[in-house]
Amino acid sequence: MTTLKTTLAGYKFDNCMMNAAGIRCATVTDLAGLRDSRAGSLVTKSATPQPRDGNPEPRMRGLQYGCINSMGLPNHGFDYYLNFLLEEQKSHPQQTNFMSIAGTTLEDDLSMLKQIQESAFAGLTELNLSCPNVPGKPQVGYDFDAVERYLTAVFAFFKKPLGVKLPPYFDLMHFDQITAILNQYPLAFVNSINSVGNGLMIDPESETVLIKPKGGFGGIGGAYIKPTALANVRALAQRLNPGIAIIGTGGVQNGMDIFEHILCGASMVQVGTQLGFEGPKIFNRLSQELTRIMAAKGYDSIADFRGKLKTL
Ligand code: FUM
Repeated sequence: MTTLKTTLAGYKFDNCMMNAAGIRCATVTDLAGLRDSRAGSLVTKSATPQPRDGNPEPRMRGLQYGCINSMGLPNHGFDYYLNFLLEEQKSHPQQTNFMSIAGTTLEDDLSMLKQIQESAFAGLTELNLSCPNVPGKPQVGYDFDAVERYLTAVFAFFKKPLGVKLPPYFDLMHFDQITAILNQYPLAFVNSINSVGNGLMIDPESETVLIKPKGGFGGIGGAYIKPTALANVRALAQRLNPGIAIIGTGGVQNGMDIFEHILCGASMVQVGTQLGFEGPKIFNRLSQELTRIMAAKGYDSIADFRGKLKTL
């Protein structure tokens, strides 16, 4: 009997798929839609301490092979998401969820983490170090000294399960460097990758960029980024301490994409752009497709093939 169950940092999930932060998870209506879907968990939109409007519109454009966005962290503020998650714990205690935070300063992140630490939240926290879309705020994940500074400050007091959301890396030396830092800390997981930052898409007809913020530069998601996502999941799986689980994100359109993420080492797989296009019912289709693929290959559970990618 094929099962899509997975375990991450000691938590059990009925399905190895969930949303990626930012996609259909900004309001309680969106979040309830995810909870009522076949996804095994949900993550809330990356929160800042106070509500934010985000960048001017148009700030997202869907395209044939994915999308470009520069949302700029529009969200209802930290309290809104923490309250939702605390209510969920009471009404749906069987499901473990994730809270994503993305302060625009270290102080903001520390203040939100202190509140999570002091709260009754019993899920996992995702510290987003990779939003490419806040003007004037470079991605922390590309500044290795800053990553070390952040994690040292966080783990001085934070005792609940915590992971980091990383940007994509493109050189093997950078995989060596970032994992040497991450391996020093009691991380529950890393989530790889966020969108490929600061891409540019244009309309050649009108000779114009497609989105307004940052002169048209934005994060690229969808099928465009699957090879980069798989490479990052694989490279991290080869270098991280075995106790740090990997969430694979990037380029998932069908069950085979999820299979490939798991083959590269992911314990859980997040769906971003395609969830935006199809809505939470996508998890029915993806679950059926992955189940069929596993059954055809004779795999009963994801543990049978997780991280077992072969090389030539
Ligand atoms: O612009 C945004 O809100 C995106 C955030 C992210 O990619 O983490």
